[in-house]
Amino acid sequence: MSKTIAAVILLSVALLALGASPASAQGGGAAADGVTHAWWQDAVFYEVYPRSFADSNNDGIGDLRGITQKLDYLKDLGVNAIWITPCFPSPQVDFGYDVSDYEAIDPMYGTMADFDQLVAEAKKRGIRVILDFVVNHTSDQHPWFINSRSSRTAEKRDWYIWRDGKGPGQPPNNWLSTFGTIAWTLDPKTNQYYYHYFYPQQPDLNWRNPAVEKAMLDVTRFWYKRGVAGFRLDAVDTLYEDPNLTDDPVVAGTDKFGRPNLDEKYNKKLPEVHDAMRKLRSTADEYGAVLIGETWTTNVDELRDYYGAKNDELQMPMDLLMTGFTGLHADEYRKHIAAVNAAGHWPTYVITNHDIVRSYTRYGDGKRNEDIAKMMAALYMTLRGSVIMYYGEEIGMANNDPQRKEDVQDPIGRIGWPKEIGRDGERTPMQWTNGVNAGFSAAKPWLAVPASAKTHNVESELQDPNSVLNFYKQLLHLRHFESALRDGEYISLNDRDPNVLAYVRRYKDQAIVVVLNMSPSDQNVALDLAPLGYKAPHFGVLLTNLATRPSPDARALAMGPYTVFIAAIAD
Ligand code: NOJ
Repeated sequence: MSKTIAAVILLSVALLALGASPASAQGGGAAADGVTHAWWQDAVFYEVYPRSFADSNNDGIGDLRGITQKLDYLKDLGVNAIWITPCFPSPQVDFGYDVSDYEAIDPMYGTMADFDQLVAEAKKRGIRVILDFVVNHTSDQHPWFINSRSSRTAEKRDWYIWRDGKGPGQPPNNWLSTFGTIAWTLDPKTNQYYYHYFYPQQPDLNWRNPAVEKAMLDVTRFWYKRGVAGFRLDAVDTLYEDPNLTDDPVVAGTDKFGRPNLDEKYNKKLPEVHDAMRKLRSTADEYGAVLIGETWTTNVDELRDYYGAKNDELQMPMDLLMTGFTGLHADEYRKHIAAVNAAGHWPTYVITNHDIVRSYTRYGDGKRNEDIAKMMAALYMTLRGSVIMYYGEEIGMANNDPQRKEDVQDPIGRIGWPKEIGRDGERTPMQWTNGVNAGFSAAKPWLAVPASAKTHNVESELQDPNSVLNFYKQLLHLRHFESALRDGEYISLNDRDPNVLAYVRRYKDQAIVVVLNMSPSDQNVALDLAPLGYKAPHFGVLLTNLATRPSPDARALAMGPYTVFIAAIAD
């Protein structure tokens, strides 16, 4: 057994002997020392892409029973809530983000009974279930849209955005779909265009229509009553459009599809979005539920706005800003974390998901990928805030991108090939074993498993004390047991160091120091803890992968490339 694992186990045994229990394992409520956190503040969330997680009926596509079968694994990992990306009936043009019935389960994934069982089994293990609510658009096969497109006077005509073209063959304005086409499709039956920010098969709902708003709020009630603990709200930025359809200004450059860039000021992040968030929130509050937002903000101010001026919008707008950083620069992270903390809300850090190249691939340098994966895990698991992991991240799963256009499943990859290759690479099957199809399914999976599954899989990594998986397990364990990591303030150290990010998380008389070498070279790190009141600090190592464990009273840490040092501080 490695020394670090032994240290964490000893610590846990000691805490258990003292009668302590991880706050999150109890399912929420009060955190240590009288600080009352809502359950979701202490929770580690885990995103499950159901097509790719576990296939119980061996048809090559994952399903709900598959997820249920893996709940013990998730509990053991330290996960408190799973967010399942859309599992509702859908033509699967956008792999579930085109919903044709918000209140049912797609037969491909199972039945409503399977869903109820998943929620019940998860609850037994202290795991909550979060669903994905596609608020901006439906499928064009949704009965609402089928009615809407049937005639200009149809009952639900105004549930979507219909407009006349500017002239023959000319759409109503210059807005573009983010998926590579124009944002308008002419429907020959009624000779009007409908608006879609995503694929033409995903018409935008008209949130200005009170009937739409009411129907959507009722959908959330339907699921809350079935035991769902909250929603991840899809694409909230694009909920409203300028009713005058003003053209977006054209700005410099072109996008991945070769089109001129637009400043999407008339069809994105309109102030009305916040009214909708408040309504969704007050409905969530009726059930004590949590709302997580897919909030692609361009800066921390925009992110702050999504919490609501009176804290009455999203409890957890995702901070996706780190996913835009290029390279690992301690300074960039330090500044961002400071800005987020100064904004005064409870952060929700995300470093990867089903739309973004996997973190292992994005940050990896090809030589020290394992260490970099551990270092990034240590970063976002020890910051103040909630975290959302993506399935497979904990085993260092890499992107497996298609090499040929004809292999691409994600339509944007076919529209934009080769500049835009789509998102298949980050959605490949979870790697459970080193056996056939990585233990995901007995049938050929819908996306290919990479060769790296032979080494990066749950079964093999559980046996290896130095694996990425065991590092994640220890980190999650620390988060659950150390109140300083859950409740503590964040104090930045060594602010001028361009290579090493160092900080203290302090809560009452508990302090934990986190030191991350974000550089490819050795660093000798002298921590100045005097301003925090420590004259002769001693370190009690909680988790590290330093080659040589420093002595408890070390004045400097010899940190190898991309290494991690986490220790309790005592005087
Ligand atoms: C964001 C989702 O995460 C993505 O997968 C989807 O394609 C778009 N929204 C459209 O729903």
